[in-house]
Amino acid sequence: MAHLEGLTIRRYRALADVTLGMTFEHQDADPLARIIAVIGPNGAGKSTLLDALGFLGDCMRGGVDEACDAAHRGGFERLRTKGERGPIEFELYYRETEDSRPISYSLAIDLDRKGRPFVAKERLRQRRKGLKRGMPFSFLELKRGRGLAWAGDATSEEEAADKLSVNLPDHQRLGIVTLGNLAEHPRIVAFREFLEGWYLSYFVPQSARLLPMSGAQKHLDRAGQNLANYVQHLERAHPDRFAKVLARIAKRIPGVRTIKTAKSDDGRLLIQFNDRGFEDPFYAQDVSDGSLKLFAYLLLLEDPEPAPLIGIEEPENGLHHQLLPTLADEMRKAAESPRGPQIFVTTHSPYFVDALSAEQVWIVNKDERGHSRFERAADQPTVKDLVAEGMPLSSLWSAGDFKHANP
Ligand SMILES: Nc1ncnc2c1ncn2[C@@H]1O[C@H](COP(=O)(O)OP(=O)(O)O)[C@@H](O)[C@H]1O
Ligand SMILES: [Mg+2]
Repeated sequence: MAHLEGLTIRRYRALADVTLGMTFEHQDADPLARIIAVIGPNGAGKSTLLDALGFLGDCMRGGVDEACDAAHRGGFERLRTKGERGPIEFELYYRETEDSRPISYSLAIDLDRKGRPFVAKERLRQRRKGLKRGMPFSFLELKRGRGLAWAGDATSEEEAADKLSVNLPDHQRLGIVTLGNLAEHPRIVAFREFLEGWYLSYFVPQSARLLPMSGAQKHLDRAGQNLANYVQHLERAHPDRFAKVLARIAKRIPGVRTIKTAKSDDGRLLIQFNDRGFEDPFYAQDVSDGSLKLFAYLLLLEDPEPAPLIGIEEPENGLHHQLLPTLADEMRKAAESPRGPQIFVTTHSPYFVDALSAEQVWIVNKDERGHSRFERAADQPTVKDLVAEGMPLSSLWSAGDFKHANP
């Protein structure tokens, strides 16, 4: 399964210079876990980390100026870390499968003389075949759209007879999207799909109560507005599997006996929750926010073709704390399953955090300059010792060992 093992971000809002996990420059660090939870005070940079991943997907899809100008980003000048002059930079360390050689992709975005964002630098590197260590080989290296690309599977200069000189006409678009051979190369296609598929979930129970006209939709959207349409897709495409999924989910939601679907007279799809103690079912309009939310998250994790990389913002909002260990556990299982998504969660919930290991929890705080600092819980010396003694992670949190990272 595709895996982002590490990344560096520079000058993206409060992320002035952060590295998480393993990169070519940080080979001694552990790769990012399949699921990570990011905790820290308000304004520390949790959502910004998720948005940075969404930004990369947007750069691939629509070009860098469009990505900067997205309504919630407000342009390059607002994105670049205040007080900094250099380009916004990314380095992603990615593996297509557990045993493929890692790819490292770097991107620098700057402003041109007309004040328009453009791709200042782009580089793709991969370790040479058969080598576990040593410097990687660049098979794309561009500055201001000019440079060299190596087609085919060459991973050394000797092999690379098919070296191409490149001069890109459009400096807003990425070379890995527009350069013919390279853009079609399976390893690049897989890498792009990984980022373009980025999916952010910020589930709002109220939206899921809408009763859209029937019509199957393959994926649940960000706020859960198309919950009924997504249910219809699952039911139609995989009826046997879906019945099992509903039975499994019903067991996880307190008080719920069974979940079924029915059609209304005008053809809309209704989700029926059969509660213990009541003969008649409840519909999505009447079940509690918490039940609906848990239902939506659990169903999101059952997507038969999940996005390879997903972000989930503060899943605890509106959920009873006793449900959070279940939810964290289900997310972890999904992330670790063979075709499951890699998951980044932001949370303020100690209950959620307790269901994870110290390798899966990252703490973010701002330094005196207002820059975000990320540290893995497992790398804080006191945390390591105390967890080894069997202390839950949240007890360290309240004891103040997660410096300033209070919920
Ligand atoms: N261009 C910028 N340079 C530096 N800091 C920024 C920039 N844009 C936003 N910020 C800061 O980033 C923080 C927002 O972080 P956010 O990721 O929303 O926090 P949270 O951890 O609560 O999700 C705010 O404190 C804001 O001041
Ligand atoms: Mg936030």
